[in-house]
Amino acid sequence: MSSTNQNSKHLALLHRPRRLRRTETLRRMVQETQLTVNDLIYPLFVMEGENLKEEIPSMPDCYRYSLDLLLKEITDTANLGINAIALFPTISTEKKDNQGKESYNPDGLVQRTVRAIKQEIPEITVITDVALDPYSIYGHDGIVKDGKILNDETVEILVKMAVSQAEAGADMVAPSDMMDGRVGAIRQGLDSASYFDVSILAYSAKYASAYYGPFRDALESAPQFGDKQTYQMNPANVREAIKEVALDIAEGADIVMVKPALAYLDIIHRLREYTNLPVAAYNVSGEYAMIKAAARQGWIDEKKVILETLTSMKRAGADLILTYFAKEIALILR
Ligand code: PBG
Repeated sequence: MSSTNQNSKHLALLHRPRRLRRTETLRRMVQETQLTVNDLIYPLFVMEGENLKEEIPSMPDCYRYSLDLLLKEITDTANLGINAIALFPTISTEKKDNQGKESYNPDGLVQRTVRAIKQEIPEITVITDVALDPYSIYGHDGIVKDGKILNDETVEILVKMAVSQAEAGADMVAPSDMMDGRVGAIRQGLDSASYFDVSILAYSAKYASAYYGPFRDALESAPQFGDKQTYQMNPANVREAIKEVALDIAEGADIVMVKPALAYLDIIHRLREYTNLPVAAYNVSGEYAMIKAAARQGWIDEKKVILETLTSMKRAGADLILTYFAKEIALILR
């Protein structure tokens, strides 16, 4: 026999990948992807009132806060080293209309909240959502006419909304509605008002997804008729995501986003290769709810599944991840 091994049970293998998996330190040395607290953006829900904290039934451990309690939550968030929050309002029904006029009220819920955060916790990056749905009686992201969602008329409102958020002190505005041309219009609107330094996080490849259900419960913003397929993207498409990203970059986006994340890792990967801009991924409410539900049944190990899931998004190419798990992850990583 030609084997050089004295013990013939051993294979003559030059490469044994298991060598580098043998100890904890070796495994850490060759780890390719590191999830860190710097990757995280924490989405938070704000509502009117005082001393209120309501759990969202379809998003266990996730709450809507009145402003006073929200500020406490954001202080904890900043103390954990999380750099940024993304703010979403629950707007009371009597303030909703078809045009979303409340969205650019200088004393609206979002504007007051941003001012308060910037006063108390100025170091945290505040990202505001630019979309009509929390303000729309129809729960749609655009002005409705004859059952259709108007594009250009909606964009006009989005510009006013973004400028009023910037005025309140937002660091970054995040158009999340998939209207055509909104990034360019918002950039122009911000610049004409001299908010050159306010950046745009564009929801560039946002899919018409069933994973948004729990979020719409949180905001009480489910569409009152039809669905969002005439503006959000078909989950079957990838080239269209690149087309959308190209447009948003040309219009002035600072960061591009893929949403949802877990069922769209290939899209994250493609966009990471396509652009030099930072790529964000939104680990959405339905993805959160699935993990929480299985963990509560005792069917999966929650912490391990969270880390594995978020690492997969980072590995796919996401530089930033919006996730309701942000605080939990920050605690695990500490
Ligand atoms: C709407 C918006 C949605 C989410 C963020 N912004 C829902 C939708 O498009 O209907 C979903 C976030 C999540 O599910 O966590 N502008």
